[in-house]
Amino acid sequence: VKKIITVVGARPQFIKLAALSPQIRKYFTEVIVHTGQHYDKNLSDNFFEELNIPHPDYNLEIGSGTAGFQIGNMILKLEEVFIKENPSCVIVFGDTNSTAAASIVAAKLNIKLAHIEAGLREFDKSIPEETNKLITDILTDYYFCPTSTGVRILKTMGITNNVYNVGDVMIDLIENNKEKIKDGLDVLNKYNVKSKDFVFVTVHRASNTDNIENLKEILNALLQINQIIIFPVHPRTYFKIIEAGLENIFTKENIIKIEPLGYFETQTLINHAKYVLTDSGGVTKEAYYHKTQAILLDKQTEWVETINEGWNIQAGPNSKNILNAIKNLKKPEFQSSFLGKGDASKKISEILHKNLK
Ligand code: UD1
Ligand code: UDP
Repeated sequence: VKKIITVVGARPQFIKLAALSPQIRKYFTEVIVHTGQHYDKNLSDNFFEELNIPHPDYNLEIGSGTAGFQIGNMILKLEEVFIKENPSCVIVFGDTNSTAAASIVAAKLNIKLAHIEAGLREFDKSIPEETNKLITDILTDYYFCPTSTGVRILKTMGITNNVYNVGDVMIDLIENNKEKIKDGLDVLNKYNVKSKDFVFVTVHRASNTDNIENLKEILNALLQINQIIIFPVHPRTYFKIIEAGLENIFTKENIIKIEPLGYFETQTLINHAKYVLTDSGGVTKEAYYHKTQAILLDKQTEWVETINEGWNIQAGPNSKNILNAIKNLKKPEFQSSFLGKGDASKKISEILHKNLK
């Protein structure tokens, strides 16, 4: 049996792994490497428990720091692990520093590299994730695009070999848990909210937290919304709010500030929210899937189809645009299935099985 190493490090990657891992294990021996980029229980361990993800074989315990600190230290430790385990293939997910580090090491050791969520771009190199995407897609051997947009963008880079539009693995996980998500109404009672009568908010992108002006614009918009707001706060955002002295946001009585939530509670809240405000790539797609409109808090998105179909609105970090978007929300009648049908993980695993023989 051939061996595959899957490398994860941040919250959305654990969620993607939860979808992929069972399919990979049908054909391969899987070794899971957690870089330790995320380490708080509610950003890491909780997802392994809740989503029954096998315990990582390695945790590199890299922790927080600059991109150079994280990627540099990950490279050193991943190299040791990859040499010791000698896998047939390394799988990376999305566009975090953990993704870029693992891609560089796999390529240098001449190990086949598979990228889940290949081909997407935001066309702005000041975004930390954009450079991670570029590094990874230059080095990848098997491109698993979540959308046809990914395939098209790779083509413009001259990449057409081993490019597969398989759909999005995050959709697999929701599809597999539809009923549980729909029926998980305990979380509405917990926060004393009614279906379609509250707003769900997440913010964590570097440009919306490190840039205090942008952060203020977003918080200002929140302060003007007369509706219950459920706001699970990413630690990066929490620290910046405190550092900038903006913690008055947490004393407004309609704003429910909570710790990062688990996967199922989050899905149920997105599903039942009146609308969502977010700069999260994952939440952008999930809102679309749940047919809850989302107003996007960053200037660009890689999930352009959600905008083109009129489900999501790109407001950016600008309180006027955000409030205007809220006022003018109107649900489109049409929704495509551009993210696939929930069988992305199965396809990925079958393609690798065929190709790695
Ligand atoms: C990272 C990814 C981002 C992804 C996000 C998912 C990069 C460049 N960014 O952003 O693409 O969307 O994860 O959530 O890889 N912190 C804690 N506890 C933790 C982890 C982080 O308190 O367990 C705090 C630290 O102050 C840290 C900050 O959050 O400095 C940022 O963490 P980091 O992993 O560098 O980036 P994220 O913003 O989480
Ligand atoms: N998520 C979660 N709890 C939260 C906020 C988000 O479980 O409090 C989930 C969300 O539903 C999605 C994933 O985390 O599945 C997205 O991760 P994140 O927003 O951290 O990163 P991004 O997708 O922007 O890279």
